[in-house]
Amino acid sequence: MLIKKAEDILSSEITPKSLYLNRRKFLAGAALAGAAAATGAGLRELIAPSTTVFAGNKINGIQKSPLSTTEAVTPYKDVTNYNNYYEFSTEKDEPAKLAQKFRTRPWKVKIDGLVEKKQELDVDAIIKMAPPEERIYRHRCVEGWSIVVPWIGFSLSELIKRVNPTSKATFVEFTTIFDPGQMPGQMRNVLEWPYVEGLRMDEAMHPLALLCFGMYGEDLPNQDGAPLRIVVPWKYGFKSAKAIVKIHFTDKQPLNTWNISAPREYGFYSNVNPNVDHPRWSQAKERRLGEFLKRPTLMFNGYDQVASLYSGMDLKKNF
Ligand code: MTE
Repeated sequence: MLIKKAEDILSSEITPKSLYLNRRKFLAGAALAGAAAATGAGLRELIAPSTTVFAGNKINGIQKSPLSTTEAVTPYKDVTNYNNYYEFSTEKDEPAKLAQKFRTRPWKVKIDGLVEKKQELDVDAIIKMAPPEERIYRHRCVEGWSIVVPWIGFSLSELIKRVNPTSKATFVEFTTIFDPGQMPGQMRNVLEWPYVEGLRMDEAMHPLALLCFGMYGEDLPNQDGAPLRIVVPWKYGFKSAKAIVKIHFTDKQPLNTWNISAPREYGFYSNVNPNVDHPRWSQAKERRLGEFLKRPTLMFNGYDQVASLYSGMDLKKNF
């Protein structure tokens, strides 16, 4: 079997896209048939969607990041057709369709709270703040599936250091757009809207925390959080808020949406931790999208460099 390696990923730019995608479709189809024949289980996670369309605009001048994993990258069509994006739908295959016409320009991001340079920034001004980097990260959802994605962006710290938080700011809160006219899921009370997430300031300043506006060499597709999201690879996926319109600096731990919704199940920290089970399932293993056998989940999703942020903390209590 042909395994796509990280260093090959931008081959999508040199191989004609139709060829490249057809080859992937064939491989996914073969894998699907084999796995389904073997068990008939987990089929939904293995299903290859019928269409694969790249989002469009290629991002120029992308630098490779030493923070990237060399693990095989998950096919684009899987990453863009299997999404958690409750503003559009609670079904994973629906955001790809329902977000197609979502307007991502003009787009402003409000910076406020305990910060010297309160302001409203145009998303394109944010994107130009620092050179774009490709960061190939493992992305582990709390539900037990994982993907490897070549995100594009730069460290969130690049933005934070330009807006000068005051010494009192100990947390950063991220708020997603509230626009039920465009986001049908927001007309239902499945979660409290808008979607809010938060990080402790030292977590937000860690070089791994990514301010993200692209993937696979191109703009972020709408269903993956365009035009701007964060990606926090050592935490469960729900910490990585999509479609951000506000970044608020505060001295209080933010109340994040999933914690409000089910406090016993989803904490504020939500570090990937195979030793702390979700109340309804084990977190010891995960299924990489498109793979049949489960693999062990790694502490901090394998990003050991963040361990010092939590030294002395009881991670069972601060789950
Ligand atoms: N951000 C918003 N605004 N709304 C959401 O429903 N879902 C979260 C996170 N960010 C979500 C969100 C969850 S549960 C996960 S696993 C990741 O987005 C999924 O990101 P992906 O679809 O790009 O893989």
